[in-house]
Amino acid sequence: MSRVVVAGSFNVDHVWHCAALPRAGETLAGEYSTGPGGKGFNQAVAAALAGAATTFVCALGDDDGGRLARGLAASHGIDLRAHASEEPTGTAGIYVGDDGSNSIVIGPGANATLTPDFVAAQGVAIAAADVVLAQLESPVDAIVETLRLARASGAHTVLNPAPANADCSRGLLAVAEVLTPNETEFAALLARHCGGDVDPGTLAGMDRERLHRLCRTLLPRGTVVLTLGAAGCFVSHREDTLRGDTQAHYRCPAAAAKVVDTTGAGDAFNGALAASLARVPAQPFAAHVRFASRYAALSTERPGAAAAMPRAEDVAARFPDA
Ligand code: RIB
Repeated sequence: MSRVVVAGSFNVDHVWHCAALPRAGETLAGEYSTGPGGKGFNQAVAAALAGAATTFVCALGDDDGGRLARGLAASHGIDLRAHASEEPTGTAGIYVGDDGSNSIVIGPGANATLTPDFVAAQGVAIAAADVVLAQLESPVDAIVETLRLARASGAHTVLNPAPANADCSRGLLAVAEVLTPNETEFAALLARHCGGDVDPGTLAGMDRERLHRLCRTLLPRGTVVLTLGAAGCFVSHREDTLRGDTQAHYRCPAAAAKVVDTTGAGDAFNGALAASLARVPAQPFAAHVRFASRYAALSTERPGAAAAMPRAEDVAARFPDA
């Protein structure tokens, strides 16, 4: 069976749904809910529901949040490899506006205690993976070790460099075969590694040739999938590594959705992309991106993060040619 390993964060999300996101100095009333989240866990749930046998490597506290993660991993059939941390399980405070937009503050807690040694102890699972996926709500040295071990055993690596203020080093980029930033993350990486000064708001409207040049400068040896929200995404391959595609760069439109909550939409995209790459490796890369885009669109039609992830069958039912 196709195997995906996800390394990363688990958070208990505390969510307030408000008419509009609060501005500085403002106090608003909102509808409160709580549920499972964390970019890592959201991606692991997405990979599992999209049909891949999934292992999730993380760090959890000995508390209700940790027990929530363990219970949900078991009910989703996820092979959980959790470092038992003395810190409390990670948390996130999330505001969601009526238009589905959000802003998030995380309390890393146990997530900050994931170590390269704990990751290395999961080496057998990583070596058995077809695709290894990580993001950056966990210490960068642990994520570098995850992707380094994956590359050493021939697994494909996907790095989602989120959040934008995370410490994404050159060494980390070097072990990413596929990099999946959103506009803000892409602009931050260009500024840090290429001396670029690009306004994230201009990327969706930028011409393909220029976007391709920026992607090639940032990740000369890998593929960049730049996610652009409602504008879909842009794919840029190295010219001699087209991954089954016929073009080195192209746009993929976003799938139509009745948006309720965009929290975790990027995670949905990444988990589904990893699962698709693992399950049907012979498909052209564009087909994986199209599946991931559709999967992410469906996730925005439900409230919450991990709880909003659809099943592969839901995608097939909604998009019959999928
Ligand atoms: O990407 C969405 C996630 O970011 C939320 O679930 C929250 O926990 C933060 O990690």
